[in-house]
Amino acid sequence: MPEDRTEQPHIVTCTAPVNIAVIKYWGKRNEDLILPINSSLSVTLHQDQLKTTTTVATSRSFQEDRIWLNGKEEDITHPRLQSCLREIRRLARKRRNDGDSGVDSASLSHKVHICSVNNFPTAAGLASSAAGFACLVYSLARVFGVEGELSGIARQGSGSACRSMYGGFVQWIMGNKEDGKDSLAQQVEPETHWPELRILVLVASAERKPVGSTSGMQTSVKTSCLLKHRAESVVPGRMVEMTEAIRKKDFAAFAELTMKDSNQFHATCLDTCPPIFYLNHVSQQIISLVHRYNKHYGETRVAYTFDAGPNAVIFTLQQHVPEFVHMVQYFFPPETNGADFIKGLPVNCASLSEELKQGIGLEPMPKGINYIISTKAGPGPRVVEDPTQHLLLSDGFPKKTM
Ligand code: DP6
Repeated sequence: MPEDRTEQPHIVTCTAPVNIAVIKYWGKRNEDLILPINSSLSVTLHQDQLKTTTTVATSRSFQEDRIWLNGKEEDITHPRLQSCLREIRRLARKRRNDGDSGVDSASLSHKVHICSVNNFPTAAGLASSAAGFACLVYSLARVFGVEGELSGIARQGSGSACRSMYGGFVQWIMGNKEDGKDSLAQQVEPETHWPELRILVLVASAERKPVGSTSGMQTSVKTSCLLKHRAESVVPGRMVEMTEAIRKKDFAAFAELTMKDSNQFHATCLDTCPPIFYLNHVSQQIISLVHRYNKHYGETRVAYTFDAGPNAVIFTLQQHVPEFVHMVQYFFPPETNGADFIKGLPVNCASLSEELKQGIGLEPMPKGINYIISTKAGPGPRVVEDPTQHLLLSDGFPKKTM
């Protein structure tokens, strides 16, 4: 039966950020509810550089729930998408029954059309599921008129997505209830707290697609006793130390803990059977570069962290960005003569002293890094008020330009 397109849908568009963990989440105690074996902490990246945009429409005329991701229709029956849809509808129904006037009762029985795009290439290998599920849950909540705590629903799309529901510095408290009601994200400090902090995403050239985080962490939970030790005896103390380092804006403490935690996460991957290798020779060269750079100055000026792939995320303070970026450019000479190598926040020119280059003492690795995205901490999800930005047309179908 053809869909009746004469009904005007109710349309909402929102954006949500990517986050990068400085205390890593790795391992679940409940696969369906997505409950972690340890708490984690992340920095929300600025949406001016990296974001997902999602439009959700509801209409009486829609025959079924449908979703388009980055221009292609995808399977809406995916269990994690279904969890998010079901939970938002359940929450909306509960609020309506409790007499909440904000809930759009009419749309509760309607089907939804969802359309979502990232402003960064999926090929860059940046984890997009966190921003994607955060944006989906935030937009669905808006369209149904639901407000309040939503991180517990985003968590059921992808664990790390719960942290993208807030800006700045965010912790995901693991909780201990069986139903997961206490496994939620919480803002530690807002994005305005540490304005000098800068973040550089070094997009490394990768030959192969690495093992996905969902299956990787399953194998780690089954086989790694280092992971068990980490979750039980290391992370609880690190959560306290990290929160304190952020609160005091103590860069050296923040940086050292960030690097240690990234390294321990990758050690648990190696302790997994069969072992998982996320770091490649470019990642290893970046690790050496950072340690040699810090040693050269006799202080911790720069930190790295790596997720389930070879891209590095670098933290540093604003004053060190130009020199460090130019050093990366020197030790990883780009294919072109540097055009488009640096994207995002502008980076001032800097010259590298011979003494520094020699002090680092590494062999340059041509084309190891595709490009750098320069960014900072940013806010949580937002509603886009401008209707021209909707990704779905008034008939509820995606714009042709996508
Ligand atoms: C290494 O959130 O992608 O990025 O919950 O199975 O969807 P699922 O996994 P996901 O795992 C992220 C793992 C990580 C560390 C982190 O972000 O904390």
